[in-house]
Amino acid sequence: MEAGGERFLRQRQVLFLFIFLGGSLAGSESRRYSVAEEKERGVLIANLAKDLGLSVEELAAKGAQVMSQGNKQHFQLNHQTGDLLLDEKLDREELCGPTEPCILHFQILLQNPLQFIPNELQVIDINDHSPVFFENEMQLKVLESTPPGTIIPLGNAEDLDVGRNSLQNYTITPNSHFHVLTNSRRDGRKYPELVLDKALDREEQPQFSLTLMALDGGSPPRSGTVQVHILVLDINDNAPEFTQSIYEVEVIENSPINSVIVTVSASDLDTGNFGTIAYAFLHTSEEISKTFHLNPITGDIQIVKHLNFEAIKSYEVDIEAKDGGGLSGKSTVIVQVVDVNDNPPELTLSSITSPIPENSPETVVAIFSVSDPDSGDNGRMMCFIENNLPFVLKPTVGNFYTLLSEGSLDRESQAEYNITITVTDMGTPRLKTQHNITVLVSDVNDNAPAFTQISYTLFIPENNSPALHIGSVSATDRDAGANAQVTYSLLQPQDPSLPLDSLVSINADNGHLFALRALDFEALQAFEFLVGATDRGSPALSSQALVRVQVLDANDNAPFVLYPLQNGSAPCTELVPRAAEPGYVVSKVVAVDSDSGQNAWLSYQLLKATEPGLFSVWAHNGEVRTARLLSERDAAKHRLLLLVKDNGEPPLSVSVTLHVLLVDGFSQPYLPLPEVATEAAQTDLLTVYLVIALASVSSLFLFSVLAFIAVRLCRRSRSGLVGGCSVPEGHFPGHLVDVSGTGTLSQSYQYEVCLTGGSGTSDFKFLRPILPNGLVQDTEQE
Ligand SMILES: *[C@@H]1O[C@H](CO)[C@@H](O)[C@H](O)[C@H]1NC(C)=O
Ligand SMILES: *[C@@H]1O[C@H](CO)[C@@H](O)[C@H](O)[C@H]1NC(C)=O
Ligand SMILES: *[C@@H]1O[C@H](CO)[C@@H](O)[C@H](O)[C@H]1NC(C)=O
Ligand SMILES: *[C@@H]1O[C@H](CO)[C@@H](O)[C@H](O)[C@H]1NC(C)=O
Repeated sequence: MEAGGERFLRQRQVLFLFIFLGGSLAGSESRRYSVAEEKERGVLIANLAKDLGLSVEELAAKGAQVMSQGNKQHFQLNHQTGDLLLDEKLDREELCGPTEPCILHFQILLQNPLQFIPNELQVIDINDHSPVFFENEMQLKVLESTPPGTIIPLGNAEDLDVGRNSLQNYTITPNSHFHVLTNSRRDGRKYPELVLDKALDREEQPQFSLTLMALDGGSPPRSGTVQVHILVLDINDNAPEFTQSIYEVEVIENSPINSVIVTVSASDLDTGNFGTIAYAFLHTSEEISKTFHLNPITGDIQIVKHLNFEAIKSYEVDIEAKDGGGLSGKSTVIVQVVDVNDNPPELTLSSITSPIPENSPETVVAIFSVSDPDSGDNGRMMCFIENNLPFVLKPTVGNFYTLLSEGSLDRESQAEYNITITVTDMGTPRLKTQHNITVLVSDVNDNAPAFTQISYTLFIPENNSPALHIGSVSATDRDAGANAQVTYSLLQPQDPSLPLDSLVSINADNGHLFALRALDFEALQAFEFLVGATDRGSPALSSQALVRVQVLDANDNAPFVLYPLQNGSAPCTELVPRAAEPGYVVSKVVAVDSDSGQNAWLSYQLLKATEPGLFSVWAHNGEVRTARLLSERDAAKHRLLLLVKDNGEPPLSVSVTLHVLLVDGFSQPYLPLPEVATEAAQTDLLTVYLVIALASVSSLFLFSVLAFIAVRLCRRSRSGLVGGCSVPEGHFPGHLVDVSGTGTLSQSYQYEVCLTGGSGTSDFKFLRPILPNGLVQDTEQE
């Protein structure tokens, strides 16, 4: 532009110069030449000599000069030819701008005479410029609401050429909405206008990019273009629209706080503020606004409070989306709360009875109810206890259950039951509640004291000191408390004649037994009595046990010689025939010992004899035999001193004197028994108890010999044949005498033997064998 203005000013100066010169040369005709602009230097404009009617020589003689106005010489004159030539390229636009026609004035100066001849050169335009837009591109903004027919101004282009070569016409890229109008100003310049042909829809086409072209009228025409960007401006012609008119969501209850349950979404075709959407609840209840939060920008709906299916099962929430222009759309969100098995069953104990007495029939122990606020299977319940307990659960009305004891309980086998009541629902996962109940069983006096043994056998030695602790009995009671406190007592003895109270006593608290006085084995070998144990229950229960006291023998009795009698007025004398063979049985010493066992094992020995070597004594059985043949030289009367000794510790002994009379002849046959019976019948009944230990067949034989001797001895005694010889009467009343004939016996039997000298019918009588263990052998024989 600036360059253009400067150029224009220079043109003005040229014009003023022409006017001044013209004034001084008024009246003279000026010749006009023409040349197209942009011709090369040296182009012929005219032949001045010919045009002035002068010869070349005259022209030269007159000193012809071409004088351009201003300081710029456009021309040169060829003096040889008289041709006027272009001295430089001419630019019409530079010389004249928009002025048309473009005239350059110049003078031809002739001297002699001085003469100015005015001339004009018209510079003819050529189409050497294209239309040029001032802007590189155009940005247009058009409201989409603009009505068709509206004219929108556009920037114009300029073409420096003039006339037909100047800008003639504007065109625009063919399109559906616009065309361009070419308008002329008063000065003839053309300018374009954009005409809207059709309503715009930004949502359909938000912008146009068109090429505006300016054309000149040259041949060929030249053009210039500019890019026109048309931005369609939005109007709020669209309301927000939700993608769904109803949103249905299922949300499990107890979903975490702040979890997004749904995102609503609306769209608005408008842009900018008109397309900016804000979401909000529409006429919400307080409950909804406390439960949900709607993000106004993102459309996220969050839970801000725990959902509880048990309280509210569904929500219906209206929401709206509003754009910046105030238009809104609406949708509905339906929230279905899904039940979750989130409540374990609850157990409410109404009553519990503990302790319950044992032995009672079915008893109610507890009453309770169960509940579960969940729905469906999540709320259905099952109730049970352990299988191995003597209790049952019984459903009653509603959700009530009773816990019963199943039949009677026995405290002694189990006094305490821990019962776990389990309630589960049928939901997934199953929830359960457990409740522990401890049921105590109270005692009833249903157990008598029990002795540790059915019977007790106590051993002691005889001759004990009084108040000796001889043993204990003990009983326990499975009951509890006073029902288990035991008191001991002595009960009546088996044998009512036993003076039990003077023999033993018992400590009522601990069952210790004491002997009250010294015991005598020989008087009382053993005795039995019952002890009782009684508890303090009500009613009291008791039991009893047998106590057998076995008195242990002490060697407190010396052997007692039954035969021969020692201090009788008429001592026995044994008669031995002189013709007796060696080994002839002269006599047999019979002795007994009131003690028992080893204390009663007796041995015999010959201490002294009138004629040593004639008689011998068998140590084990007391038999006195001849040791050799007798002869006439042997004295008739002999006296033997024998010792009978027991095996006690220390041993006790007694000496026996035996008288022997040797008689002539052979041994006398024994008198027949009936004779004895006749004699015996006249005497008092003689009963001798003998207890003889026998262990073998030889012992039986020994016994028979002994018996024979005894019978004979007594017969003699009664017949008075050989002085007084008698068995003491009633020497061992009331108890048995244990005689062990030899120390070699491997077993010991006791026989009660009765000799009935006065019965007239019999002699010895085996009454019964007495076995130490008390068994009675039924072998009674005569
Ligand atoms: C302008 O150009 C258009 C398209 O080429 C043509 O239709 C119209 O007649 C021209 N107008 C003028 C005045 O030359
Ligand atoms: C019952 O439970 C209590 C406490 O846990 C325990 O001391 C007792 O031994 C249990 N009784 C039974 C019979 O299991
Ligand atoms: C109930 O008893 C069971 C078994 O004895 C035990 O495992 C459980 O912990 C107890 N429950 C309670 C609540 O005491
Ligand atoms: C024998 O003597 C004792 C005392 O030495 C006497 O106790 C007993 O009675 C006497 N026996 C006879 C049968 O005389």
